[in-house]
Amino acid sequence: MTSTTTTEMRLRAAVEREMPAVKADLESLVRIPGIAFPGFDHEQVDRCAEAVAELLRGCGLATQVVRAGGQPAVIGRRPGPPGAPTVLLYAHHDVQPAGDLALWNGDPFEPVERGGRLYGRGAADDKAGLMAHVAALRALGDDLPVGVVVFVEGEEEYGSASLADLLARYRDAVLADVIVIADSTNWDLGVPALTTSLRGIVNCDVRVRTLSAAVHSGAFGGAVPDALTAMARLLATLHDEAGEVAVAGLATGRSSTLELPVERLRAEAGVVDGVQLIGVGPIVDRLWSKPALSVLGLDAPPVREAGNALVPSALAKISIRLAPGDDPAKAMAALRDHLEAHRPWGAEVTVEPAGGGSPCVIDTSGPHYAAVRAAMRAAWDGTDPVEIGVGGSIPAIATFQECFPDATIVVTGVEDPNTRSHGPNESLHLGEFGRVCLAETLMLAGLGRSAEPAVDGPVTPGG
Ligand code: BES
Ligand code: MN
Repeated sequence: MTSTTTTEMRLRAAVEREMPAVKADLESLVRIPGIAFPGFDHEQVDRCAEAVAELLRGCGLATQVVRAGGQPAVIGRRPGPPGAPTVLLYAHHDVQPAGDLALWNGDPFEPVERGGRLYGRGAADDKAGLMAHVAALRALGDDLPVGVVVFVEGEEEYGSASLADLLARYRDAVLADVIVIADSTNWDLGVPALTTSLRGIVNCDVRVRTLSAAVHSGAFGGAVPDALTAMARLLATLHDEAGEVAVAGLATGRSSTLELPVERLRAEAGVVDGVQLIGVGPIVDRLWSKPALSVLGLDAPPVREAGNALVPSALAKISIRLAPGDDPAKAMAALRDHLEAHRPWGAEVTVEPAGGGSPCVIDTSGPHYAAVRAAMRAAWDGTDPVEIGVGGSIPAIATFQECFPDATIVVTGVEDPNTRSHGPNESLHLGEFGRVCLAETLMLAGLGRSAEPAVDGPVTPGG
């Protein structure tokens, strides 16, 4: 007991010592706008991968930048003592596009600290996840009691298309007993979380066509349907009156017992006063274990250019978040069937699938979880982690589960309810980030200890 406490105090001091440099390195990473989406400058993704590789080399890891037809990932390795488990530390270095710059309080790629938070695109999602790994490795230094593989993906935000190929190609380099995915969220400030499920996703582009070309809206309106009205009617079939998804054949996952107060959700999301929430049942089930369908974009004549003409064709981007247990291919087929069965006025409807990723359920019962929980509890001064689902997706997790079915997966993260990832003014709570870094440090130390034979327990002959 005493030795654990001494170790913990030493590691606390080590993390504290490392945090200023960790924050500075995080800021340097935020300045590199590495976005994997088509149409963005992928040289920045390459630069970001190189910067990540340098950080890992600085931690004494044998490091390479790798790719399998997509954006570059970084793999760093450092073997542990003989018999020690190997822990894979995952994060992604690519970020979401910044979106409308006018909505940011400053340059998204120039990090700014304000009120204990660090603002910038990727300051949390997920460059801070990566820096938590770096912080733990720096704090542990040469006392690293486990083997580590750091795997930093370069296209998570664009769907992880080449991840399966990367894992197949570098299988031996990334084999691990425990896989820590630092890309999720905590329950609240002061309350850590272990994520036990994530939703999957399928996206598609739907085109509705009624005319071969635009025609006079007065000469033909009344008898000839325009594509935008037809599109509106088609999109309106996707939910019932209560806002439940009306596409038949989608799965529902298991309920959680956690309660998310409606007012907290409204505030976190910034729901406009008077607007009702949609769906039925407990809020967390609507967010985590039931499907959600949203229209993410619409191509049609912009209002300021719209003349008095019937719109011949319109394009919408539809996205379904899939409940844990559902299957992206099945869900895509269900959505296609629904759209083709609900063609308004016989309009031509064409559906173009646009990628997806599997949901996942994470088993938190394995023996490694004792060290994980103890580390989080210690880092949050005695507050146990709560088990949460999340509504977002990390398709990489299902890929890891498929490739390494025997590995224990642990999903942690740096986010908090005010992070606003993917939106303007994304930010990281620096105080909580310190705890995340400490938790990961204690976790690696604990995972190493739990593999050792007990020193103060009874010695079992031949055991
Ligand atoms: N870090 C998020 C996933 C997440 C969101 C975890 C909210 C916890 C709470 C991740 O980087 C992400 O946004 N993933 C994409 C995946 C998609 C491109 C397949 C997503 O969910 O949109
Ligand atoms: Mn992320």
